[in-house]
Amino acid sequence: MAAVAFTQEQISQEAHRLYGLLGCVSKSKSAKWSLQDCLAAAPLTLEINRLKKEKNAVVLAHSYTSPELVYGVADFRGDSYELSLKAKQTQADVIIFAGVWFMAETAKIINPGKQVFIPAGHAGCSLADSMTGEDLARLKAKHPGVPVLCYINSTADVKAQSDSCVTSGNVYDIAQKMPGDELIFVPDMLMAQNLSAELVRRGTPKKIISSGGSCCVHDKYRPEHIEALRAQHPGIQIVAHPECPIEICRLCDYVGSTKGMADFVAKTSARVIGMLTEFGMVNRMEAEHPDKTFIWPFGVCSYMKRNTLANTLQALAEPLPGQEVQVDPATAKAAYKAIEKMFELTK
Ligand code: 13P
Ligand code: SF4
Repeated sequence: MAAVAFTQEQISQEAHRLYGLLGCVSKSKSAKWSLQDCLAAAPLTLEINRLKKEKNAVVLAHSYTSPELVYGVADFRGDSYELSLKAKQTQADVIIFAGVWFMAETAKIINPGKQVFIPAGHAGCSLADSMTGEDLARLKAKHPGVPVLCYINSTADVKAQSDSCVTSGNVYDIAQKMPGDELIFVPDMLMAQNLSAELVRRGTPKKIISSGGSCCVHDKYRPEHIEALRAQHPGIQIVAHPECPIEICRLCDYVGSTKGMADFVAKTSARVIGMLTEFGMVNRMEAEHPDKTFIWPFGVCSYMKRNTLANTLQALAEPLPGQEVQVDPATAKAAYKAIEKMFELTK
């Protein structure tokens, strides 16, 4: 790749721009982003931002990727729903999706005529990888006529056999809108338990039939982690993602999508917030609320972290074959209906 050479002054200016955004953000449990880190990132962010203009490309970044992507080069950052909506609305010719495969695949299904690239290549997800289209066909055969909702963290084959797709931000409302008192919800068995409890709480209970998947990041939290946070930080408010086990969700102050957690953090008067979610979300909150303290026990999604500035530049400049997202047209057509249904039911 023959990259444009930038002057020392341009690099220094860009490093200071990055430092202004990332200076209060954790790079690890014990270190914050330094000006030195920003100087190292600056030539890459400059070149990516230059190429974006040249190629009429847009960069969408999930909050669980790294802050140098989220704040250095992303045009839009957000949760799965917000990013799929941005993919639907964009006028760009090229979409670079810094996230995991099912997210970029969804963007491609929405935009069959556009080129969609994922810097990380085939970055999986323990939920999406837990169920094949054949698995869902067998489950449906055991429960004929029962409506099927699939979490967006699923493959195109699973989406293609579902009545509607959902995200963590709209799952409860869409489940309530489905006919009947039974529902197949795949592939997250922990979110299925949370869904069942929420529908009881809303006075609209349904029997939820699920499969055996779980998020390998959120399924690790246990009640003793919450007890320790509350003992060490009196007055702490704790947020969690609905991919966590139900006993965790019951003990937290707020449970919701990454956007929901961000909205809660913005509104709460608590100064110390416990984050039972992925590290990138902690980084986002640190960047956006430098006046608050965020306590994070653990939780890193290795799939999301495969996206880097270097492979984002590669995807823009000279994409490798594994970075371009392709979906079988017949599967994409069927999966599109479930995604469109989600947009319709979210209005
Ligand atoms: P959100 O839609 O809440 O961003 O969740 C996506 C995800 O993969 C969480 O693990
Ligand atoms: Fe999948 Fe969990 Fe990573 Fe989200 S955090 S992409 S659900 S493995």
